[in-house]
Amino acid sequence: MPIIQFKDQNIHCDKQQILLDELLAAGCSVPFSCRAGLCHSCLMYATAGTPPKTAQQGLNQEQLQKNGFLACQCHPDADLVVRLPSHQHDAMPAIITSVTALNQVVKQVQISPSRLIDYHPGQQIKLTHHGHERTYTLVSHPEQDQELIIHVQRIAGGNISQWLCESAAPGDTITLCDVQGDCYYQSKNPHSPLVLIAAEVGLGAMLGVIQDALWHQHRGPIHLIHHVPSVADLYLQDSLRELCQRNQQLSYHTVVGSWTKDSLPQLTYLQQSHFFFAGATPRIMEYWTTLQQFNIPLSQCSVISFGLEEVSNQAVDNLDLSF
Ligand code: FES
Repeated sequence: MPIIQFKDQNIHCDKQQILLDELLAAGCSVPFSCRAGLCHSCLMYATAGTPPKTAQQGLNQEQLQKNGFLACQCHPDADLVVRLPSHQHDAMPAIITSVTALNQVVKQVQISPSRLIDYHPGQQIKLTHHGHERTYTLVSHPEQDQELIIHVQRIAGGNISQWLCESAAPGDTITLCDVQGDCYYQSKNPHSPLVLIAAEVGLGAMLGVIQDALWHQHRGPIHLIHHVPSVADLYLQDSLRELCQRNQQLSYHTVVGSWTKDSLPQLTYLQQSHFFFAGATPRIMEYWTTLQQFNIPLSQCSVISFGLEEVSNQAVDNLDLSF
């Protein structure tokens, strides 16, 4: 039975079991979300031993060179010493500077950190307030925005989201740390078509990716789909239409209600596109199922999945995933 060493623990791991489950069962703090190999929340690195190839699908060259693997896809077949990614920033105080309603349940929160943060739009940052913590996607652009911007959806029972949406005010202090995530615009192929699918508040992440693509003068077509349960859940429609008018390669449409295979528009460049999608895990799985029906490989997808990514021994900002 392989032995997995993580921090000061040695975990005997059944080959039939998934490493993520074994680590969580042993009380280890490991982030996760989709459990399907899509979102990379559970990315870990092996500092000794070789992780199974099946746990490395969809990782980039840099992650592979460092022996990266996805814990949710890993059935260990040999001993490993593993670690979590080292994040870029230690905890720092920050001040909320504005809270603006975007629709009935989504607020835009602007935050002034106490020092400069190096990040890509679409990456996540951990926000802590009064012992509760939750990770939010950065919508702002480091070159264009002086402050950090996040979009927050009010979720029943979610400590942080309820505080941010109902009580937080300019001047309130929070703590930020751990910029992470690999779902962001990469300018390697500026002519590649991009298709972005946002479920509800996932729009913020996709907007960040689009603004970064435009900042890098992306030349290929960019198509954004905003998927919501009802018309009342749409937001930033006018801003997005204006953005499309100013940038000819950008187009945008909405999908209201259930997602079906036909929700994906018949774009001539669909097969060549790189796909970004962001939203709650059940929506992400729907989009991935559709893309598989079009034979789109995982290597053409970058995903942000909002799930119960909180870890054991830490406060959980409960998330109701019902749509
Ligand atoms: S890829 Fe492992 S939890 Fe999403």
